[in-house]
Amino acid sequence: MSGESKPNGPAKIVALPGDGVGPEITEQALAVLDLCCAAAGRKIEVVEMLIGGAATDAGEPPLPDKTRDACVAADAVLLGAVGGPKYDLLEPELRPERGLLALRKALGVYTNIRPVKTFAPLAEYSPLKTELARGTDLVVVRELLGGIYFGIPKGIDDKDGVRRAYNTMVYSEPEIQRVARVAFEIARGRKKRVMSVDKANVLDVSRFWREVVTDIHQKEFSDVALDHQYVDSAAMDLIRQPSKFDVIVTGNLFGDILTDEAAVLAGSIGLLPSASLGDGPGLYEPIHGSAPDIAGQGIANPLGTIASVAMMLRSSLAMPAQADRLERAIESVLTQGIRTKDLGGNASTKEMGAEICRALEPQA
Ligand code: IPM
Ligand code: MG
Repeated sequence: MSGESKPNGPAKIVALPGDGVGPEITEQALAVLDLCCAAAGRKIEVVEMLIGGAATDAGEPPLPDKTRDACVAADAVLLGAVGGPKYDLLEPELRPERGLLALRKALGVYTNIRPVKTFAPLAEYSPLKTELARGTDLVVVRELLGGIYFGIPKGIDDKDGVRRAYNTMVYSEPEIQRVARVAFEIARGRKKRVMSVDKANVLDVSRFWREVVTDIHQKEFSDVALDHQYVDSAAMDLIRQPSKFDVIVTGNLFGDILTDEAAVLAGSIGLLPSASLGDGPGLYEPIHGSAPDIAGQGIANPLGTIASVAMMLRSSLAMPAQADRLERAIESVLTQGIRTKDLGGNASTKEMGAEICRALEPQA
């Protein structure tokens, strides 16, 4: 998984601030990345490029060729956010989200890893009763390059004078196998439990998904426990007993939906990071969107992006000690009670970034 750069060369990072709160949070995350690399004596080269609405505003497509080429040649890519109401009326091909989907495809990042952990001092911000939220520690492994997001045929047309629209949910065996392997490997480093989520009581594609995951499990990962759950029931259990889950593996659409649901368990979607990995550069981004309602006010929580930098340090830059150190810094700042508005505090985006930098100062 994921291209590791040579530990001695400069780390080549492409930053894509994007839309809405993207630029504000990316700025803080880059300052933190700089500090971590400096502490490890690692040089870093960062170039900022356009994606999403920021690109179309500049008269470019949502994924300009030069952005794509730079990302493919980088060690890792840091994305802020894409999208916003301003772009809702654009042609589908010009929508900011298209830029992100095209980038995922270009990078070949077939696995999206979204860890969700409740952090004790924040349990009261979870919409769940504290006793339910406490102890949540799960990872959603979402297939990212297939399923209904990319399936063909798709479109809107006219059949016998009746307008209709369709998408196709399709998975090939290798597409399921590769993401299942990642989920089982991750489970091996955790509680060794995988829940594969599908809709096999209705969908053929889900029956096939279940068959392929079961086969990989039997042949390669029999030391890990595997269970299956229908997506509707899994959605219910995520809020009824989230601590029952360790690793969830699921397709693109179900993963999209379940990760927004799971994200709020931790107290705020603004806290959570993600890593999209394939065989080349990794793509790191917070789970939250562009939050147009608070964009430009300097109040967005940068911790989801900063925690994504920790994932980058670990999975793409071969700096696991710095990743651990950064995660400890995030915990320490939250424990001190420093909070942005989404968590009931009044620290600004910049202040939160500066606090993390300060917490990183004493070299471990
Ligand atoms: C996500 C987002 C994206 C997705 C959008 C912005 C295309 O919701 O990363 O979860 O649907 O994958
Ligand atoms: Mg989503």
